[in-house]
Amino acid sequence: MSLERIPLAGVIGSPIAHSKSPALHMHWLKSLGIAGHYIPMDIAQDDLADVIRMLPRMGFVGVNVTVPYKEAVIELADLVTDRAALIGSANTLIFRKDGKIHADNTDGYGFIQNLRQKAPDWNPKAGPTVVLGAGGAARAVIAALNDAGVPEILITNRTKQRAEALKKDFGKRLRVVDWVQAGNILEEAATVVNTTSLGMIGKPPLRVPLDGLQKGALVTDLVYAPLRTHLLNEAEKAGCVTVDGLGMLLHQAVPAFERWFGVRPQVTEETRAAVLR
Ligand code: ATR
Repeated sequence: MSLERIPLAGVIGSPIAHSKSPALHMHWLKSLGIAGHYIPMDIAQDDLADVIRMLPRMGFVGVNVTVPYKEAVIELADLVTDRAALIGSANTLIFRKDGKIHADNTDGYGFIQNLRQKAPDWNPKAGPTVVLGAGGAARAVIAALNDAGVPEILITNRTKQRAEALKKDFGKRLRVVDWVQAGNILEEAATVVNTTSLGMIGKPPLRVPLDGLQKGALVTDLVYAPLRTHLLNEAEKAGCVTVDGLGMLLHQAVPAFERWFGVRPQVTEETRAAVLR
């Protein structure tokens, strides 16, 4: 490889047209004066393994991975970080110089960093956390909440078995609650996280009754389109501290960008604006 080879990165998924990652990484590349590129790639399931093996030979230093391939890439990687193995999915691949493919999951890191930045007074130890949903995103969030030292996680999901599977994987601090009870447990919550897709543009609304939300609780939504969801609006009216989900997307990208391009980017208001444009 010649010294002048321009480093390439990108995001693999299907569909990929609405991904905000290209705008984010291109903004950082430009503002940091790095000659690199970040490309969205819509890949068919049958081509996934071939494409991933080929990318390093084309000059790629790594890629992000999104729906529906976050689980599948774990099997294709040569090395998997402990947290990615525990979560069972990866959002970041690093193509190492020795040819090995390294898989990591930075979603939980992004989740916590977003709260630290936007709600610096948030104390994860203040009381129980309610997690709505038990999909892939919930797994990353729960791993991160456990690391942050939350005393108890009340998890509720339409499909109860998925929540029970999470309890098996993430241990004793989890309590599974029926989906119909979701509104009732909000009264106990010091922290509330929506990891379901409910409330997203084009998806059904989140119908959980929100009148149990306690003043001073921290409420965050992984949905960021719209940026201000019904959950965040109602929480704000109830006197909660609210944090939107866009920051999680921005912060999860920081460690990836640093590993690929050698500079740690900052998440600022300018970064948010660049992605929202
Ligand atoms: P992600 O990786 O984004 O978490 P996912 O694994 O498909 O995506 O999970 C989506 C989450 O939203 C799940 O908790 C899902 O509940 P189920 O496990 O019962 O499917 C939840 N969800 C999606 N649509 C829903 C709906 N109409 N009502 C209730 N929950 C819903």
